[in-house]
Amino acid sequence: MKHILLGVSGGIAAYKAAELVRLFRKQGCEVRVVMTESAMQFISPLTFQALSGNPVHTELLNADAENAMSHINLARWADVLLIAPATANTLAKCSYGLADDLLSTLYLAAQCPVYVAPAMNQAMWHKTVTQDNIAKLKAHGVTVINPESGEQACGETGLGRMAEPATICQQLLAEPVVRCLQGLHVLISAGPTREPLDPVRYITNRSSGKMGYALAKAAVNAGAQVTLVSGSVSLAAPDSVDVVRVETAAEMYEAVMANAQSCDMYIGAAAVADYSPIVAEAQKIKKHASQTTIILQKTQDILAAVAGLASPPFTVGFAAETHNLEVYAQKKLHEKHLDMIAANWVGREKGGFDSEQNALQVFWKTGQKTLVMMDKIQLAEQLVLLCAEKFNEKNTT
Ligand code: C5P
Repeated sequence: MKHILLGVSGGIAAYKAAELVRLFRKQGCEVRVVMTESAMQFISPLTFQALSGNPVHTELLNADAENAMSHINLARWADVLLIAPATANTLAKCSYGLADDLLSTLYLAAQCPVYVAPAMNQAMWHKTVTQDNIAKLKAHGVTVINPESGEQACGETGLGRMAEPATICQQLLAEPVVRCLQGLHVLISAGPTREPLDPVRYITNRSSGKMGYALAKAAVNAGAQVTLVSGSVSLAAPDSVDVVRVETAAEMYEAVMANAQSCDMYIGAAAVADYSPIVAEAQKIKKHASQTTIILQKTQDILAAVAGLASPPFTVGFAAETHNLEVYAQKKLHEKHLDMIAANWVGREKGGFDSEQNALQVFWKTGQKTLVMMDKIQLAEQLVLLCAEKFNEKNTT
């Protein structure tokens, strides 16, 4: 049973922490709650005591027998320390190593993984000093569960709302990326393609490559040998990944097909152009007429070509949709003969292209799974786990 030590600091989102306790207990975890002085202004310790089934800890020096578990014992007891909501003040204290109350002292004493779910007014979140503290905490090994954007209790709109309890719970309880792809060769495509019109112009799309690069990193961490075929992006290649850099859809096709026969799994995360100019002019096109026409021709579907090989690897596609997400994703799964497809919305306020976060609806022939909105790094870890699970199922039947 996982021991979760939940630190609640003083923000309006403290009421959401009550729901967190309920969700953790539903998952079979034991929860102990520590509250700061100001958290108790927002919600009563009694609520957490009732929900957790344990006494709530509020003071650093407390001789009360019921609460007598010292900060050191509490820190030792925890498998995970989660601070939710984490106010700007609590984050600052943790980043500087101050220990003037029970929660900040526990943070210093904790040797287990630490997660923080910040919650604050959007201006406070964007303040340089807050962002510096967040960067420092990340550098110290703390996992930050990013706040979400939306209407705030103060009446403003922006980034700073604590992530939803279900998101926090899923992220915290996600299995660590075990070596689930050990010994496998995984081929991943990422980023956009560029289809030239002339020597200086091209047609491209909004893909940043972040999802594909996060997948490459997660696959390496899961023990795979990874080849990453990447369109033009401004991202550093993850360590231990063989990167093949390409520009056009045709080049990506060649690079992927050169590796597809020998890989065990292909994840097509690239946003490949569907059409490419029929001719790329050798010289810069000059402006004369008031209107002009570009004739485009369909590119080769790389994903379908990989899945259509005589003995194809386990093939995973992506579907970025602005509408009818499930219908289009299921259609691609079947028409391209894929093993799995990960679909996401694009053109919405949150997630999609060039965003740090995303949510996925993953489909395979006999089922589906929702991966809620989270950082692409964590999302990639979860998708890799799911790919490994379905790969193993396919190869044992
Ligand atoms: O059909 P659609 O382009 O929406 O399918 C998206 C999926 O197909 C992605 O996995 C993408 O990498 C792949 N694709 C491809 N070659 C193309 C177009 C898309 O591999 N020419």
